[in-house]
Amino acid sequence: MRILVTGGAGFIGSNYIRHVLAHGRDERVLNFDLLTYAGNLENLAGCEDDPRYGFRRGDIRDRAFVREVLADERIDAVVHFAAESHVDRSVEGPEVFVSTNVLGTEILLEESRAAQVARFVMVSTDEVYGSLGPEGKFTEDTPLAPNSPYAASKAAADLLCRAFHRTFGLPVMITRCSNNYGPYQFPEKLIPLMIANALEDKPLPVYGDGQQVRDWLWVEDHCRAVDLVLRRGEPGRIYNIGGCNEMPNLELVTMLVDRLGKSRDLITHVTDRPGHDRRYAIDADRIMSELGWAPSLEFREGLAATVDWYLANRPWWEKIRSGEYREYYARMYGDRGPDDATGTRS
Ligand code: NAD
Ligand code: TYD
Repeated sequence: MRILVTGGAGFIGSNYIRHVLAHGRDERVLNFDLLTYAGNLENLAGCEDDPRYGFRRGDIRDRAFVREVLADERIDAVVHFAAESHVDRSVEGPEVFVSTNVLGTEILLEESRAAQVARFVMVSTDEVYGSLGPEGKFTEDTPLAPNSPYAASKAAADLLCRAFHRTFGLPVMITRCSNNYGPYQFPEKLIPLMIANALEDKPLPVYGDGQQVRDWLWVEDHCRAVDLVLRRGEPGRIYNIGGCNEMPNLELVTMLVDRLGKSRDLITHVTDRPGHDRRYAIDADRIMSELGWAPSLEFREGLAATVDWYLANRPWWEKIRSGEYREYYARMYGDRGPDDATGTRS
C-alpha cells in the first residue's frame, strides 16, 4: 500500500508514521504537511533514512499540488490528520479552522475521489458530539452538537466525508477519538503544558473549577486503532476510540505535580474557557467488538511514560517554548489572571 499521511509532522500524525514504519511492512508512507506552528519535522527524527518514508511540504488547500502528489506518488490510501487542532486558538481566530479543517478536507476528498484512492480515513474527534452531563457516553449515533469553532469545523468535515461516501461511493471511514496524550504533543495542550510549566516552576493554569472531565487515550493506542480502521474498517462507518480513562482536569494536574515532586501551590485557577465542554466520555464498543481493538495501557503507566519522555526530551519542548509560542502564551494567559475559580470569564 502507498499511504499519504496528512499532518504527519504533528503530534498524532508523527506517532502514526512511526507506528507504521515500526511494524515493518513493505509500504510507502508519504508525509504531506504544511509545517504550521504545530508541525515539526524533529518529531520524525530517524525516519528520514527509511526508504519507505517520504516528505512533501504542502497545503491540503492547494488543490493542484494535492492532485500532483496523489498522482506522482500513486497513492492508494489517505490517512487524514492535518488540521488546526487547538480549541483555545479556535476561540481566538476561527477562520483558519474553517479554511483548513473544512475546505482543506473537501479538497482532499475531491482529489482522492479523482485519483480513485481505495481507502480514506478521516481522523476526527469526540468533540463533535458536544458535552455530556455526569452520566452516559458518546456512541457513534450520538447527534452532532459541537460547541467550539474547532469542534464545529471538525463536524463539518465529518459531514463532508459522509456525503462523499453516500454520493460518490468514496471509501471513507471516520474515527472519533478522545483526548490523546504521549510523546511529541505540542506544549499548548493540557498535559505537556502542565509538565513544562511545573518543571520551570511556573503557575499551572487550571480553567475554572477544574472539574471538567476528559477521557485520556494513549497516543500509541490511538495509532493502532486508526491503522486497524485503515486496513479493516467498513467504508461509510464511524468508529469511536476512547481510552476508558475519565478524569477531572484538577485531579490530573495534581497527579502530575506530585509525580514531578513539585509544590501543589503552583496550581492556579484562572478564568474559564468560553463554551468549555464539561465532560467527554467515549463508548468504544464498536471498534472493540468489530475490529478487536482495546487500549493497552493504564492511565498511570501512560502518564509516567509521558512525564519521563518530557524529562528526557527537554531540548525538544524548550525550543518550541522559546519561539512563536511565547507570544501565543502571553496573549492566551496574560489576560487570564488567577481568580476565585468560579468558572466565569471576567
Ligand atoms: P497537531 O496540531 O499536533 O498537528 C497538526 C498537523 O497538521 C501539523 O503538523 C500541521 O503542520 C499540519 N497542518 C495544519 N494545517 C495544514 C494544512 N493546511 N495542510 C497540511 N498540513 C497542515 O494535531 P494533532 O493533535 O496531532 O491532531 C491530529 C488530528 O487528530 C487532527 O485532525 C485533530 O483534529 C485530531 N484529534 C486530535 C486529538 C488530540 O487529543 N490531539 C483528539 C481528537 C482528534
Ligand atoms: P486541551 O488539551 O486543550 O484539549 P481539549 O480542549 O481538546 O479537550 O484541554 C484539555 C482540558 O484541559 C480542557 O478541559 C481544558 C483544560 N485546560 C486547562 O484547564 N488549562 C490549560 O491551560 C489548558 C491548555 C487546558
